[in-house]
Amino acid sequence: MKIAGKHYRTIWLAGDGWSVEVIDQTKLPFRFETVALKSAGEAAHAIRDMLVRGAPLIGATAAYGFAMALREDGSDESVEAAYELLVQTRPTAVNLKWALDQMAQAVKDIPVAERAAAAYARAAKICDDDVEICRRIGEEGLSIIRALSTGKGGGTVNILTHCNAGWLACVDWGTALAPIYMAHDAGLRVHVWVDETRPRNQGASLTAFELHAHGVPHTIIPDNAGGHLMQHGQVDMCIVGTDRTTATGDVANKIGTYLKALAAHDNGVPFYVALPHTTIDWSLEDGVAGIEIETRSAREVTHMTGQTGEGAIETVQISSPGSAALNYGFDVTPARLVTGLITERGTCPASRDGLLGLYPEKG
Ligand code: MRU
Repeated sequence: MKIAGKHYRTIWLAGDGWSVEVIDQTKLPFRFETVALKSAGEAAHAIRDMLVRGAPLIGATAAYGFAMALREDGSDESVEAAYELLVQTRPTAVNLKWALDQMAQAVKDIPVAERAAAAYARAAKICDDDVEICRRIGEEGLSIIRALSTGKGGGTVNILTHCNAGWLACVDWGTALAPIYMAHDAGLRVHVWVDETRPRNQGASLTAFELHAHGVPHTIIPDNAGGHLMQHGQVDMCIVGTDRTTATGDVANKIGTYLKALAAHDNGVPFYVALPHTTIDWSLEDGVAGIEIETRSAREVTHMTGQTGEGAIETVQISSPGSAALNYGFDVTPARLVTGLITERGTCPASRDGLLGLYPEKG
């Protein structure tokens, strides 16, 4: 995607050929700054403190973190230590474990001296593949938006999304936002309802930033507004991303997604989830019981960061001092509330049969 006319991915190899640069997403939407990651430890910090976030980008960053560890020391002990350090950074997004498993596999049977080069090559391929996968998800989702547009006689298609599943969450394009970018670029009239996505506000700060940069009409809404809009016919479809999808089609995504799916179900609004195959956890049947839900600091609930009128970035407390707060990062939307899963191989029902129809090799 382009920022001020310059094409960016969210992660890229630096000029030195071994460290990586990422966009510091904690500074958006007020500052567009990049930061260099020079070790597995710095990659782990960037994931944990959410300088980078979004399931595919977490995986890509971990892959490069792993490669940087092997550049310093390619021994079996180093491989194990890097894997353990990185896999523990965030528990819900299964792309993280998927990417690290790919990396470990890539270096397993080769001489220690050749491991770093093999790891960098695998990390680069994970990134390139993610871009192509997201492009295909975009094309797939475009056909759904086109059908809705045709059904409205070319009128504006209103799409609600939660959190950020755009290019900032991936290497490029995004998952849930890729179809929207393609629809906009194809000349279809689209408008996006952007859930602010408390407590970290990924919708208000990141999704809105992306859509604005691309010129896509959008409106930020409080998280509680979606149900009301749906009752009044102002939402034609919902599209969200996912951090982990079970083999039966349950989806874990940013906290609050489940409530939007319930409201969509009650109002007959199609609720789609866009995902790359790297997000599917084939080992899990029941998402509510089986997916580990990240708990983050209560401070993310009690405090908020923003820009003052003078342009300073400040953090203020917004809750009654002394009260406890609870901060689950994700919730699980059961498959029965999902209209369809939009993947790089096509769209399918959110069910075991649906997924196996697209990925028969997993049967
Ligand atoms: O906590 P975050 O910002 O990493 O959560 C991100 C999401 O919930 C996204 O919807 C999900 O990772 C899918 S990204 C394509």
